[in-house]
Amino acid sequence: MNREFSLYVALAFVSFAAVAQTQSAAIPRLVHDGEQTQLLVDGAPFIILGAQSENTSASNLEDVEVVYHDLDAVHANSATIPISWSLVEPKPGQFDFHLMDGIIEGARHHHLKLILLWFGTSKNGLMGFTPDWVKEDRATYFRVRDAGGDEQYKISPFSEEALKADRQAFSAMMRHIREFDQHDHTVILMQVENEDCFYPEDRDYSAAASRAFAGQPPSDLMSYLDKQRETITPALHSAWRQRGYRMTGSWTEVFGDMAPEVFSAWALSSYVDKVAEAGKTEYAIPYYINVPLINTGQVRAGDWPSGTANSQVLDIWKAVAKHIDIIAPDIYRVDFPQQAAFYNRPDNVLFVAETGIAPYYAPYVFTTLAGMNGIGYTPFGIDHGYEFKEGALTADQAALEENYRVLRPLLPIIARNRYRGTLFPIVLDMYRHESLAIPLGDSLAAVVHFDEKFVADTEAHRGGGIIIKLAPDKFIVTGEGFHINFAELKGLPRDAEYISVEEGTFDGDNWVTKRVVTGDRGNVSLRLHQPRILQVHLNRTSN
Ligand code: DGJ
Repeated sequence: MNREFSLYVALAFVSFAAVAQTQSAAIPRLVHDGEQTQLLVDGAPFIILGAQSENTSASNLEDVEVVYHDLDAVHANSATIPISWSLVEPKPGQFDFHLMDGIIEGARHHHLKLILLWFGTSKNGLMGFTPDWVKEDRATYFRVRDAGGDEQYKISPFSEEALKADRQAFSAMMRHIREFDQHDHTVILMQVENEDCFYPEDRDYSAAASRAFAGQPPSDLMSYLDKQRETITPALHSAWRQRGYRMTGSWTEVFGDMAPEVFSAWALSSYVDKVAEAGKTEYAIPYYINVPLINTGQVRAGDWPSGTANSQVLDIWKAVAKHIDIIAPDIYRVDFPQQAAFYNRPDNVLFVAETGIAPYYAPYVFTTLAGMNGIGYTPFGIDHGYEFKEGALTADQAALEENYRVLRPLLPIIARNRYRGTLFPIVLDMYRHESLAIPLGDSLAAVVHFDEKFVADTEAHRGGGIIIKLAPDKFIVTGEGFHINFAELKGLPRDAEYISVEEGTFDGDNWVTKRVVTGDRGNVSLRLHQPRILQVHLNRTSN
C-alpha cells in the first residue's frame, strides 16, 4: 500500500467510525457510568411511565388503539405491546410486519414510545405464541419432557432447529424495526421471550437435556462465579459452598440439590442470549428479559418457575446472557419494595416490567423511580375488560392516572436527580403505618401522615408521592393521600419555617405557579388530599 492510499484508507475508516458513532449515538441505548445507568432516548435521559396491554390485544389495530387511548387517559409516555411470532411468520421464512408497522405508527400518532415484547419460543415458559408450523412439527422443534418422559407444551432449549428458527425470525424483525424506526426512535426497548422458565418440572428431561445435565458446567460459567463469589445470590453461594466451591465435576457434584435449577438457568439463558445476539446484530437498542418471581409458599424449583433469573439463580443469567441489558422483575407480590430492591444492583438497573394494575400497587411507581433509581414502571393489563370511553376510567386506571398526572411533568427533573440522594419516595407501607419520617439531610426531615381513608383500605386506594430536594431549602412535594411537615433536627423539636409554598407544575424546566398557598394554610401541614405538585421554600437561616 503506498502512503497516499493508506492515508485514504485511514481517513475513510475514521469517517465511517464517526458516522457509525453518530448513528448509534442516536438510537435508544443504556449508558453506564460506574454503578449508574441511564436510558437515553434521542440523546436525553428517559424515564418510562407506561403500562402493558393484555396479551392478546395486539392481533388487530383496533384493539391496539383502545390500549393507546387508555394510556393517553392515564398520562403514560410509553406503551408495552406484544409481538407474536405466529403472526409475524405465519409460514416458514414468510414474514409479515404490517401489523407491527401499524402498532409503531399508532404509537407515534399518540406520542407514545414503545416497548415491544417478543413472544417467540417462550410465553410464560410455554409455546402458545409460536407459529402453527412450529407447534405441529414435534420432531424438528422437539419439546421439553417431564421426569416421566411425557412431552410438555414447551419447546426444549436444546432444540437447535427451534433456536435457529427463532433467531431468524427475531433478527428479521429487528432488521425491519431498524429500517422502519431508526430515525424516529419510537421503539425504545425489546423484551426477548416472555418469562422463560420450566414449570412444573425443575428442568428439561428430554434426552438432549439429560445428556447435557450428565456433563459438566462450562468452565467460563464457573470462572464467572469464581470471580463474583462474594456477590452472587445467597442461595447459589450456599449450594456451591457446600460442595467446596468445586470448579469441575457434574452439575450435581458442583451444585448439589440446586443443580437442576442452576442447569435450567444456564440452558434457558444460553438460548435466550443467542436469540438476543441475532437481534443485536441488526438493531442494538436495549434488550431485557422479564422474570416471574418466587411466591410465598412455594418450596422448590418446579413448584416455583425454574431456571428464570429469580432470587436463586439471577447470577447465572448475568454470567451467560451478555446480550441482555436488563433483568426485569414481574412483581405481583405485596412486598413490592423488597422484591424490587433485589433487581436494583450495580450491574442491573431496575425496570419494573410488570406489576399488578390494581390500586394497591399504584404508589410503587414512586418507590421505583425515587427509591431505587428505576428507569421505568409498566403495570400489566391497562385495557383489562374495558373499552375506552372518554372520561370513564376504571378504578385501576384512575389510581394510575392520579400518580402519572403529577409525575409526568416532573420526569426531566427526576431523571436529573437520579443517583444524587435527592429523591425520596412517600409510600404507605404494607403494614399500613399511619405516619412516616423521612430524613432529608442537612438536619431536616419530612414527617408524613397518611389520610385515614387510605390507611383503612389499601386495596381500594393508597397514598403516595415523591419529595425532590432541589436545594437544602427548596423542595418539590407531590402525590396524594397525606399531609406533610418539615421538621428541624437541631435545637428544640420544631417545624421548619416556610418562606413560600406554591402549587403549580413544570413546563420543561420552568416552574409555573397555579396558586400561592403560604400563609394560614402554608404554615400548618401541607395537604395533599388530591394529587398536587407543591414547591416549598424553607427558611433555614437560623441553622
Ligand atoms: C405474566 C406474563 O408475563 C404476562 O404476559 C401475563 O400473562 C401476566 N403474567 C398475567 O398476570
